[in-house]
Amino acid sequence: MDQLQQFKNQLIIVLKMTLLALLFAIPVKTLANPGKAYLFAYTKNENRSRNGLHFAWSTDKVNWHKIGPEHGFLFSDYGRWGSQKRLVQPFLFQDTNGLWHAIWSVNESDTAFAHAASEDLVHWKRQSYPMPSNGSNVLEPVVFMKDDQYVIQYKSDNNGSTEYFQITTSDFKSYSKPQKIDKIQTLKTEVVIGNETLTGTLHQVDWKVIQGLIDAKDLSKYKQSLHAETTAEDATRFDGLESVSVAVKVQPEQKKQISDKLMGIFFEDINYAADGGLYAELIQNRDFEYHPSDKQYRDKNWNHFFAWTSKNIESKLDSVNPIHENNKYYLILNNGESLTNEGFDAIPLKADEKYNFSISAKTYGNSNKLLVQLVDDAGKVYDEVNIKVNASSWKKYQKSFKIKETVADAKLVITPQNSSKVAVDMVSLFPENTFHNHKNGLRKDLAQVIADLHPQFVRFPGGCVAHGDGVDNIYDWKSTIGPLETRKPNRNLWNYHQTVGLGYYEYFQFCEDINAAPVPVIAAGVPCQNSGTGGAGQQCGIPMEEMDAYIQDILDLIEWANGDAATEWGKKRAAAGHPKPFNLKYIGIGNEDLITDVFEERFTMIFNAIQEKHPEITVIGTVGPFYEGTDYDEGWEIANRLAVPMVDEHYYVPPGWFIYNQDYYDAYDRNNAKVYLGEYASHLPGRPSNIETALSEALYLAAVERNGDIVEMTSYAPLLAKEHHTQWTPDLIYFNNTEVKPTTDYYVQQLYGQNAGTIYYNSKVLVDTDDDKVQKRIGVSVVEDEKDDAIIVKYINMLPVSVNVTTNLGTLITSETTAEKTVFSGKPDAKEASLQTEKIKTTANQNMELAPYSFTVIRINKTNK
Ligand code: AHR
Repeated sequence: MDQLQQFKNQLIIVLKMTLLALLFAIPVKTLANPGKAYLFAYTKNENRSRNGLHFAWSTDKVNWHKIGPEHGFLFSDYGRWGSQKRLVQPFLFQDTNGLWHAIWSVNESDTAFAHAASEDLVHWKRQSYPMPSNGSNVLEPVVFMKDDQYVIQYKSDNNGSTEYFQITTSDFKSYSKPQKIDKIQTLKTEVVIGNETLTGTLHQVDWKVIQGLIDAKDLSKYKQSLHAETTAEDATRFDGLESVSVAVKVQPEQKKQISDKLMGIFFEDINYAADGGLYAELIQNRDFEYHPSDKQYRDKNWNHFFAWTSKNIESKLDSVNPIHENNKYYLILNNGESLTNEGFDAIPLKADEKYNFSISAKTYGNSNKLLVQLVDDAGKVYDEVNIKVNASSWKKYQKSFKIKETVADAKLVITPQNSSKVAVDMVSLFPENTFHNHKNGLRKDLAQVIADLHPQFVRFPGGCVAHGDGVDNIYDWKSTIGPLETRKPNRNLWNYHQTVGLGYYEYFQFCEDINAAPVPVIAAGVPCQNSGTGGAGQQCGIPMEEMDAYIQDILDLIEWANGDAATEWGKKRAAAGHPKPFNLKYIGIGNEDLITDVFEERFTMIFNAIQEKHPEITVIGTVGPFYEGTDYDEGWEIANRLAVPMVDEHYYVPPGWFIYNQDYYDAYDRNNAKVYLGEYASHLPGRPSNIETALSEALYLAAVERNGDIVEMTSYAPLLAKEHHTQWTPDLIYFNNTEVKPTTDYYVQQLYGQNAGTIYYNSKVLVDTDDDKVQKRIGVSVVEDEKDDAIIVKYINMLPVSVNVTTNLGTLITSETTAEKTVFSGKPDAKEASLQTEKIKTTANQNMELAPYSFTVIRINKTNK
């Protein structure tokens, strides 16, 4: 690029920056300071009271200025997403110590209200949802102080009659019993802003309070504008940019040890990841335990008969003397009446493969013969077996099918041949050929694609599945081990069913198979904050009197995984076929929970118990679902106070966030907890996986490698999604019954996983332009894989132009050597990447051109092999 062009480009950039600064007030504008001003706090009913607490200010109570306008400064976290999270009739109050308190109704019916406090109205502390004991709804609450006590008055209008109550508290944690009162004090004000009359609370404050609110809103808007940048505007954003030159000088003496567990996977049974997915079982609803409650009674066909057909099937259901109390239901078949299972979107079969069939059955009377066939829709039989049921109590029968042709849509048909009735349960069909040939094993192609990521750890069973939808749905590891009929199937909170055939034993076994560390995540004694059952979302923790037993279950898990075969729980593991310990080192406690007192109390009990009994286990705490905000602050505060060794951070954010937050971990205090970035993904509008999302993750992972001394682990989420059964997008790997479809983002994970290092080398990176937007779209990371004696250089170019890069590896490479160069590239919106790999020769000095929108990995053998 000639100098004139460069000058023009820079001028354009300066003009754009100035325009942006004017638009988004950078540096944030400071209004003339009137000393004191009036602040009005209100909300409107937009979005069913979900737009948060708003502020307006005025110096004369006549001319009002909305901040935002109607920027949300506080949001409710009570109850389900979608239907709840409502901030109804908020009331703001400043106490005599200057602390602000907001209280509000959570909805029109629940017997709880909400409270949160703040020093500055911008940063809010944890929320609580007190339940006054008069047992009816809490409406229009107000608060004031009297005799050093906070007095809260509210209205209850259950059953049509309106009553007024008052409670008192000194700390917003424990409350007096409700007392009936005649009426609520009138403490709200009406203010006319424009042509709207709004109701809220009026306060006189120092101007700095209002300036703080304006600054916070401006900063948030400015950040949003950066985070919203996508490649769709690159043509104008980088208009005139022809190419960029970068000089990378690696500093071999500036090195640090980084985690050897940086790249792992997040497995959750979401999107049919387990049943119908990784778990190789081909019979759907094999135990007749599907229940309408799995789908919250929203699908009348989702019941004990789902995926099954038979004449008058409803009349065949029974639950007397079941195979096990955890598997209550079974069917009783009559002579000649066939029972058909359609599998999960049909049963795929492969030519020349063996399929193992099993069924638990009992006869009522004489022995009976079951004809079991794999057929197509037209009745063509692929193979059949006969099973003689000769016992009047439950017994497991097994046979194998040998298939000659590959078909995608078989069905299984069972037909009794004699007149005595036969009860059937636990009907199962597994390919013999599972991953690592385990019985009750995993689908080979899917497991292999996961293994090919070279994950250093596996997190399971979630995600939200781990903490569940309400206390009763918290994942209970103990009911997922042992013989299949004794396991306790459960509702999957993603609105389907978990057989838990893929249970803790299978998870640990998979980890061992792929040489990855197991990272089970256990609920912190609280269910998901978005729960719709059992009361106020996460407010309903496990009752205190049950916590000891719950904690014992967690300690038992450690013994089950690590104890020798003579221990009570180690014995169960050995009996299942694994006498050797599984070598468990990490346990996650909690999953992006709402940080409340209810959470803290239970988390602390669990953490202390594990620390005391098993100091060798690294406990991973949780800091909420976002990269900032109340749960993040409060979660980190608890982690620092308790000296929790690691915390689990989650953030699903747009590519722009990854581009502009590459320094996120640079300032993290190295003396505090380590970080497990347990769930993250780049989310574009419409949620595709494409080159843009993948490259933004690649760019960020380079920054994570640079911070591999504080970031111990990362896992993209979610991992798997079955086509047509997807509750969440994007996912890393899509699949159907016969195909596996890794996404663009998968290949980025794979390139990082297969090219992980344990030493990070600092580099000086000089870009030939000062344009921050250009600089932020180029990433470089240099690591050493000590085991393999390799230096790995990763370059990310998220620009629409090529980048000429010269790299000096200094003393890291002392003579010409061989390397493998892999280039991942494509148009930003492409859903498939071009992946090119070639062998090259290199020395300490390399020159190369990085294609537009590309990720290049050079794996250099330190010495010629
Ligand atoms: O990854 C999907 C979901 O996202 C997880 O279950 C939950 O933890 C997060 O909200």
